[in-house]
Amino acid sequence: MHRWNPLSWQNFPARQQPDWPDRDKLSRILEILGQRLPLVFTGEVDILREKISQAARGRMFLLQGGDCAERFSPRLDQIESLLRVLLQMNMVLMYAAAKPVIKVGRFAGQFAKPRSQATETINGEELPNYFGDIVNRPEGTIKSRTPNPKNLLDAYNFSASILNIVRGLSKGGFADLQQVHSWNEAFILDSPQGQQFAEIADGISKALAFMQACGVNSREETATTDFYTSHEALVLDYESALTRLDPQSGRYYDLSAHMLWLGDRTRQPDGAHVEFLRGIRNPVGIKSGPSMSPDDLCRLIDTVNPSNEAGRITLITRFGAPNIAKHLPGLIRTIKTHGYDVLWSCDPMHGNTSTTAGGYKTRDFALVVSELRDFLQIHKSEGTIAGGVHLELTGDNVTECTGGAEGLAASDLATNYQTACDPRLNARQALELAFLIAKEIV
Ligand code: PEP
Ligand code: CO
Repeated sequence: MHRWNPLSWQNFPARQQPDWPDRDKLSRILEILGQRLPLVFTGEVDILREKISQAARGRMFLLQGGDCAERFSPRLDQIESLLRVLLQMNMVLMYAAAKPVIKVGRFAGQFAKPRSQATETINGEELPNYFGDIVNRPEGTIKSRTPNPKNLLDAYNFSASILNIVRGLSKGGFADLQQVHSWNEAFILDSPQGQQFAEIADGISKALAFMQACGVNSREETATTDFYTSHEALVLDYESALTRLDPQSGRYYDLSAHMLWLGDRTRQPDGAHVEFLRGIRNPVGIKSGPSMSPDDLCRLIDTVNPSNEAGRITLITRFGAPNIAKHLPGLIRTIKTHGYDVLWSCDPMHGNTSTTAGGYKTRDFALVVSELRDFLQIHKSEGTIAGGVHLELTGDNVTECTGGAEGLAASDLATNYQTACDPRLNARQALELAFLIAKEIV
C-alpha cells in the first residue's frame, strides 16, 4: 500500500468537506493550528485503546454519549449536567453488571456535522447547509452560512476550554463517589428513574462505608474518574493539522481527541476519511448503517486495521429499529468468519430519526429502546459481545425525543427544543435507557 502521511488523504476523494472561500486564510489558520499544543496525550490514547480491547472481550462496557452538535457557546452548567448524567448511567451500568464502564464523551470537539443535502432553500434563497460551528452558523443568512476558516481555530480553543472543565470536574471532587446522592438533578428526583437511582446510590454509600470499616483505603480510586473525548473525524483539514508524530513510538496520533469516528456518509473504502484514519493510532469508531455490505466492512477493516490490533476498531451499528434484525446478524457472521477483533457498539439514535407534522426532527424513545434490545438480543444469540452504546443525550430537561416514562408527545416538543442538529435524549430518558441496558448486560 502507498505511504501514509497526515496529508495523504488529499489524494483521495473527500466527501462533506467545506468549500472554504478564502484559501489563503485557510492556509494561515492551518499553519497556526499545526503549532498548537495537543489537546490529549498519546499515553491516554493508548490506555483508551487497551480499555476498548477489554470491552470487546466483555470485561468492560463502553458508554459513549453527548451532544449531536456542540456549539461555540458552551455553558458550565450544561457541561456539569451532561457529566452528571453520564456518571449516573455509569453507576447504573457498573452496579448492575459489576464491570468497569469506559466513559467517552461526544464533547470537547464535536463541532462538525455531515449533511445529506449540501444546500437548503430559506425564504426562496438557496444557502449552504449548516455543517456545524467548525464550518459555519445555523442562522439562515448567506453571511452565517459561508464557511469561515477561523472557525477551525475557534473549534480548537473551545475544545481546550471544555476539556479543561471536564478534566477539572473529573479530578476535583465532582465525580467523588461519596457525592453520589447529589448527582440527582431536581427534575430527575421526582421521576421513577430518580428514585431507582437513589436506591443504587444508597447501596453505593453503604458499600463505601463497609470498605472503610474494613480498612480498605480506596479514597483515591473512588474520588476521581476518567472521561475520554471523541468526535466525528469529518473536517480533515482540522484533524490532520492536529495530528502529531510521537517521537517515542514513531507513530502518528490525532491529538484533537482520544477517539475519532468515521461517519456513515464518509466511509467509502477508497475515500479520504478512510485514508486519514488508517494512519493514526487512536481508537477508531466505524458507523455502520443499512447500506454497509459485508464486503465493504471487510475492505474497511483490512484498510484501517490491517494487523487486526485489539482495541483499534469499534463498530457502531445504526440501522434503525425496523432494520437491525435484517442487517446485524450478517455483519456479525462476517466478522466472526474473518476473526476480526472489534468492539460492537449500538447507536440506536441515527437510524430512528423522523420529522413531526409540526416540523420538529425527533426520535421516538420506543424505537430507540427497540433497536437497543434487538442489538443485545442478537449478540446473545450469535454468541458475541454487545460491548457498548453510542448515544446523543444531554443532562438538560429538553423535549427533543418523544416517549419515555414521562410520556413526551409530539405536541410537547416545542416546550424546550434546543438542539442545533439531531434530537437528544434528556436526562430522564438517558437514565431510563441505562436501567434497561443494565438489566440485559448482567
Ligand atoms: C452522528 O453521529 O452525529 C452522525 C451523523 O452519525 P452517522 O454518521 O451514523 O449518521
Ligand atoms: Co447526530
